[in-house]
Amino acid sequence: MAKRKKIKEILASEEQGYETTVMGWVRSFRNNQFVALNDGSCLSTFQLVIDFENAEQAELKRITTGAALKASGEVIESQGRGQKYEMKVNNFEILGDSDAEKYPLQPKRHTLEYLREIAHLRFRTNTFGAVFRIRHHLAYGIHKFFNDKGYVYIHSPIITGSDAEGAGEMFHVTAMDLNEIPRQEDGSIDYKKDFFSKETNLTVSGQLEAELGALALSEVYTFGPTFRAENSNTTRHLAEFWMIEPEVAFNDLDDNMDLAEEMLKFLIQHALDNCMEDLEFLQQRLENEEKQKPQNERSPMPLIEKLRFVLDNEFVRLTYTEAIEILKKSKPNKKGKFQFPIEDWGADLQSEHERYLVEKHFKKPVILTDYPKEIKAFYMRQNDDGKTVGAMDVLFPGIGEIIGGSQREERLDKLTQRMEEMHIPAHEMDWFLDTRRFGTVPHAGFGLGFERLVLFVTGMANIRDVIPFPRYPGNAEF
Ligand code: 4AD
Ligand code: MG
Repeated sequence: MAKRKKIKEILASEEQGYETTVMGWVRSFRNNQFVALNDGSCLSTFQLVIDFENAEQAELKRITTGAALKASGEVIESQGRGQKYEMKVNNFEILGDSDAEKYPLQPKRHTLEYLREIAHLRFRTNTFGAVFRIRHHLAYGIHKFFNDKGYVYIHSPIITGSDAEGAGEMFHVTAMDLNEIPRQEDGSIDYKKDFFSKETNLTVSGQLEAELGALALSEVYTFGPTFRAENSNTTRHLAEFWMIEPEVAFNDLDDNMDLAEEMLKFLIQHALDNCMEDLEFLQQRLENEEKQKPQNERSPMPLIEKLRFVLDNEFVRLTYTEAIEILKKSKPNKKGKFQFPIEDWGADLQSEHERYLVEKHFKKPVILTDYPKEIKAFYMRQNDDGKTVGAMDVLFPGIGEIIGGSQREERLDKLTQRMEEMHIPAHEMDWFLDTRRFGTVPHAGFGLGFERLVLFVTGMANIRDVIPFPRYPGNAEF
């Protein structure tokens, strides 16, 4: 059964005049003769030419959009225009019928919103085929990048008792009968009676466990699903997303920035090297999509040019304090165009501010560092000024924050003091503090939101369209 040649291989090869077998799904069937077959190995369809005069009528009728087909014959130079090769079919077999009237994917353009409702079938469209092939290559590229550098891949737990970000946006995990929750005398929930004998949640980040690994293996990374119960209904947030978190012993904030920039450039180059057909398709798609938009809302460059631009330019590095000065004096701030006006040092930056810096002011990716400690997590290294921490956020055009990271507080006394100030229960984090008690070293790391990277590389507009089955408020279908 599995003896088949992939369409990608046929189209890439210089060979012709040989017999082979292909299998895939029918995209269209014209003139009772020409089948456009797609097997997902690449964007292109392969043209099958059926000898309809000698085929059985009943069988020909079963070649419909969406049907699965096996065909054998000779690969020859194409007689028609638009493709290099085609197959002169000797025999074909319908592997799976598809009722053309009921098939939800008609051979026409569907909106992304509609396709999201039929996410189980959207893999079969050109757009989602391209997006998910690129997603695959980026995932592979991440492992290649870190493996080639000698990093150890750590599998951080998905169920955990800790809140790595201290932000409290967690999904609870329980095996309790919710109709009969065991309670203690004071009425509080008795987690001792739950599966793990303690309160647990889905992880928001694998960082704390990665730190434990880094303080023994020197250079580690995680790449796994993370979960946030934040009620953010935006085109940049998911409740379940994948994060890549390198953590490196003996690295300071500068090393951390260098690593982030090198990694992002490697991944973009990797996509250019491996996904050109899909990128060209998505570039054209974006251009068509944006034709209806006013000029000032269109992307400033075509997709591939944008990717090359990031490769060719050094990221701008500046401190939060410098950024606040720029934002304060900016036109949109003075004219009251920001939804959240920037008045004082200490303000948390919103995506409108990040995007102003990247898209309007510098017109380049930006790394912002040294944020006020009040708006950052407890584990970030405290600077000597007593006000800021060694944080870094990488901001990308069209995306805003793509990476968040920091140098870590390796000094036990400073760390425990900050945890106390932020009401983080130190007794529950003894395992974490042990790394500071025994052989602590400076170290640093960051988290790359995988879907935000895929969003950037594919030029798609909504994060829900770059993960196969998106989870967001009110939606956990499939
Ligand atoms: O900035 P964040 O919250 O950082 C951390 O979780 C650190 N523990 C990372 C580290 O230092 N090891 O998240 C990191 C990145 C963000 O920059 C963003 O790209 C992505 O994760 N992200 C999300 N992506 C999709 N949906 C969400 N709800 C996201 N929240 C964060
Ligand atoms: Mg962040």
